[in-house]
Amino acid sequence: MSDVKNLAPATLTLDGKTHELPVVEGTERERGVDISGLLRDAGAVTLDPGYGNTGSCLSDITYIDGNKGILRYRGYPIEELAEKCYFVEVAYLLIKGNLPDRAELERWRGLLTEHSMIHEDMRNFFRGFPERAHPMAILSAMVVSLSTFYPELLGEGPEAVEITAARLISKVRTIAAYSCKKAIGEPYVYPRHGLRYCANFLHMMFDSPCADYQPDPVVVKALEKFLILHADHEQNCSTSTVRLVGSSEANLYASISAGVCALWGKLHGGANQAVIEMLEQIHATGGDVEMVVRRAKDKDDPYRLFGFGHRVYKTYDPRARIAKQMSQDVMGRLGIHDPLLDIALQLEKIALEDDYFVSRNLYPNVDFYTGITLRAMGIPTKMYPVMFAIGRLPGWIAQYLEMRNDPARKIGRPRQIYVGPTERHLPPIDEREPAAAAT
Ligand code: SDX
Repeated sequence: MSDVKNLAPATLTLDGKTHELPVVEGTERERGVDISGLLRDAGAVTLDPGYGNTGSCLSDITYIDGNKGILRYRGYPIEELAEKCYFVEVAYLLIKGNLPDRAELERWRGLLTEHSMIHEDMRNFFRGFPERAHPMAILSAMVVSLSTFYPELLGEGPEAVEITAARLISKVRTIAAYSCKKAIGEPYVYPRHGLRYCANFLHMMFDSPCADYQPDPVVVKALEKFLILHADHEQNCSTSTVRLVGSSEANLYASISAGVCALWGKLHGGANQAVIEMLEQIHATGGDVEMVVRRAKDKDDPYRLFGFGHRVYKTYDPRARIAKQMSQDVMGRLGIHDPLLDIALQLEKIALEDDYFVSRNLYPNVDFYTGITLRAMGIPTKMYPVMFAIGRLPGWIAQYLEMRNDPARKIGRPRQIYVGPTERHLPPIDEREPAAAAT
């Protein structure tokens, strides 16, 4: 762990007693009040539903400054990584802590190629899913099933970990492509050893027995950038899920499978699908953007403006800025005009001029424009959360390994404040009032 400084302690006075709480400061001057002794010393726990004020760990993987719109992986700005790197380079950076040199990159690429196929018996699993199965359900089921084919799981030593990481990163891409072929009733396309990571994915997605598919370099570069933008994001909902599940010493496959399920939610990684469905609905109803804004502002309407707002960013999500430009570049290079982009640009303009959104620091997040690019690539809407998962996988693996390698690691087990009935005794059944009346 990079250096963490100890500052002057904080004090808490409770029941007339004053307690000193250690305060730590990270390398970017974030401060944390260490409450790990609070229950023992003061007989109380903290209360923070949604963990908005709670730091779960010390980490040297990803840094976010939500007020300045800064995102760095292992110290490197997201803008530089997205512009200059391959996704597999960034995956290596997140998992190993440094960018690979040429020899390490070639070895890493060789591992990803070597582990790109899934066991033929796993292909049979796809037959069991209904055609309309959501690909996130398939992905989560297939990832945890990988543990039955590779029982050695996380063997000892860096080499075993590297192979397991390569296996997951490579096979998740194949599983995703197969789930897409399943949905459209086309035959599965095997990975090709001569293709690099992103081109191989596009090959498996779009090649068919009837026509060879040649990945367009513009689309390959856009996919590299898309996956890099999603590769990690410190302790978000799905990453915290991976850490919590892994803290019980569940294996990496089981922990990642749980992370896939957490990412699926519309408030999290499922938002990129919800954004496109929202834009399609606006388009289908004549482009009435104001209706969506009205609903999003209506406190009596649970409707949210998908792709807007963020727990950490209180300014423009730096990834959204890159994704916005990427969507316009890709469509320009491919000669595509998508009315949904016009609607998205109009929606952003209206929201950012509306006090409801401005006063709550609600800006476009990573999910607002990324779906537009995926549409331009020809990827079906239901696949968008899966694309997010493919990108986030190296971050989940890095965070899981950081947690498992922490000598101070403990199983995650939050507490609560109980507010239910105090002790009472069982009435005979004929003296009980109807349960419904009691609630
Ligand atoms: C991701 O955590 C991460 O890092 C996640 C992620 C990653 O890379 O892992 O960045 C990926 O999940 C991005 C977020 C994708 N989700 C969406 O786009 C769904 C729409 N956004 C919201 O549901 C919401 O903004 C969240 C869930 C993203 C954040 O919610 P918070 O931090 O819990 O904020 P909140 O619900 O407390 O909202 C504060 C206020 C409320 O109004 P008031 O009670 O003050 O009147 O803002 C309002 C909310 O009603 N609000 C919105 C809104 N987001 C917040 N109102 C309308 N539309 C929205 N999108």
